[in-house]
Amino acid sequence: MHKTFFRVFLFSIFLFAGCKPENQKEQLKVQRFPNEDAPLALLMREMFEDLEEVKVAVGNGERIKSYVEKHRNLLEVKPTDPKVKTPIFHMMGEAYLESLANLEESPLELVKANYQTVINTCIGCHQQYCPGPVKRIQQLEID
Ligand code: HEC
Repeated sequence: MHKTFFRVFLFSIFLFAGCKPENQKEQLKVQRFPNEDAPLALLMREMFEDLEEVKVAVGNGERIKSYVEKHRNLLEVKPTDPKVKTPIFHMMGEAYLESLANLEESPLELVKANYQTVINTCIGCHQQYCPGPVKRIQQLEID
């Protein structure tokens, strides 16, 4: 009884580890050329790096560079799995871009809170469409 429960539990962890589990991704990198990755996956990697930069700027109270126009492409470019392009994906994408625009226009005292909202919208969409990187995205939070 307990064993069965444990197996189901492990199985669901396995299911929730993707879009692509980290170790499988490493194998893919060795076997294929990295530019075979879908444009959305490549953009997301850049978004992660852009937000690392924004995190540093927020921490230092510096001016935040604008990424809204660049990140807007997430609504257009091709994903690995075409099934993710649903109306909800689009809505969550718009919500993300709005929170980013809002951060970029924040008065100083709201910058930290608005930054956290941006990260929450990244995570919100990921919980629906791509739970694999959620842990990594949480590293962008300011503690
Ligand atoms: C509207 C939904 C949505 C939002 C918002 C979103 N993502 Fe993603 N993200 C995805 C999807 C879907 C994928 C899978 C992309 C693919 O493989 O085509 C992905 C993939 C990724 C990946 C893995 C890329 C790889 O190496 O394959 C990272 C890292 C990532 N996102 C980080 C972020 C960060 C950081 C944010 C916020 C700044 C963010 N995402 C916002 C949907 C979203």
